[in-house]
Amino acid sequence: MRRTFVAALAALTALTAPAVATAAPSDNGLARTPQMGFNNWNLTHCGAQFTEGFVKGIADTLVSSGLKEAGYTYVNLDDCWAESSRDSLGNLVPNRTRFPNGIKAVADYVHGKGLKFGLYSSAGTKTCNAAGFPGGLGHEKADAKLWASWGVDYLKYDNCNNQGVDAKQRYTAMRDALAATGRPILYSICEWGQNQPWTWAAGVGNSWRTTGDINDSYAKMLSIYKKNITLGKYAGPGHWNDPDMLEVGNGKMTDTEYRSHFSLWAMMSAPLLIGSDIRKASSATLAILRNTEVIALDQDAKGVQGNEISSAGGLHVVRKPLADGDIAVALFNETDSTARISTSLSAIGAGSGSHQLKDLWSKASSTTSGTISASVPAHGTVVYRVH
Ligand code: GLA
Repeated sequence: MRRTFVAALAALTALTAPAVATAAPSDNGLARTPQMGFNNWNLTHCGAQFTEGFVKGIADTLVSSGLKEAGYTYVNLDDCWAESSRDSLGNLVPNRTRFPNGIKAVADYVHGKGLKFGLYSSAGTKTCNAAGFPGGLGHEKADAKLWASWGVDYLKYDNCNNQGVDAKQRYTAMRDALAATGRPILYSICEWGQNQPWTWAAGVGNSWRTTGDINDSYAKMLSIYKKNITLGKYAGPGHWNDPDMLEVGNGKMTDTEYRSHFSLWAMMSAPLLIGSDIRKASSATLAILRNTEVIALDQDAKGVQGNEISSAGGLHVVRKPLADGDIAVALFNETDSTARISTSLSAIGAGSGSHQLKDLWSKASSTTSGTISASVPAHGTVVYRVH
């Protein structure tokens, strides 16, 4: 009786369900807003401090500091998590010194904190570190299956030692291997913008790096911004431009510069992956990383990357339309001295009449019927939410 009912229900569902035919395998439903979390690379590189204990401490701190609550979900391990050779069956082996209990134990710990877990590999024969850990090229299916069995939720897939094989082919092979595991795994393409991934990777990965590596300097952050800001039309829900991970808190930029870095990444709908030691973060660093009103611009449901409406003389005006009809405006002063940066309601495409401006760093509110303007310190950024 019950079986008949279930069969009838199944038949009915088949008749009434919309045809879910051929959804592109790339549409894994993930990263509807840009991914947020932590990655150890900018802090540790392959240093000895990159261990199971370190990763657990980071996961603990994400929770205790309120960063998880603010949206930082993924705990991602970068290069150097593996032994330099596969085992006799061809499986990747976790580094025995850094991760004596294996990777699954770390993933389980991270999951136990209500967080998600990510891992790194390269679409080549070896990863990028000079020591050369085994890469995924030609091992896509087996590696993806192993990662899924460990509970991996996120893969950063690099570009080193690629043997000159076509990039789209290499990255698509891993996309398909990840999809075949049946586990939802966010797929972060890291080929440094070499093959213009913005033109082909929306059907392949959830994000793609647009430039070479960031480092903890204003000059590098600025040059990456200038490249990535031009690519806005290629980004959207599920497929984002990635200007590389955050340096906020690593100590070689000023807090003013870190606020610019964070503001500009949010205006560009960039993945927000913390890369500093949050276990020892200063209150200034935490105030930047936990600015929920700036994070809300990054995570806005409309999913439109901001674009520049002017930049003469290094005085940048960036505009980002938001889901509720508000418009975010960033006034970024690239130059070495304080400057007034001005735009207007009409220039940003807001209607006429009185509008409310909220400064998302100072938290001050004001109103305007025309001019939007601020005195902005050297290397600083003022961000307004215009309502
Ligand atoms: C490349 C990537 C970096 C990092 C290193 C690891 O340089 O672009 O983000 O993953 O490899 O070796």
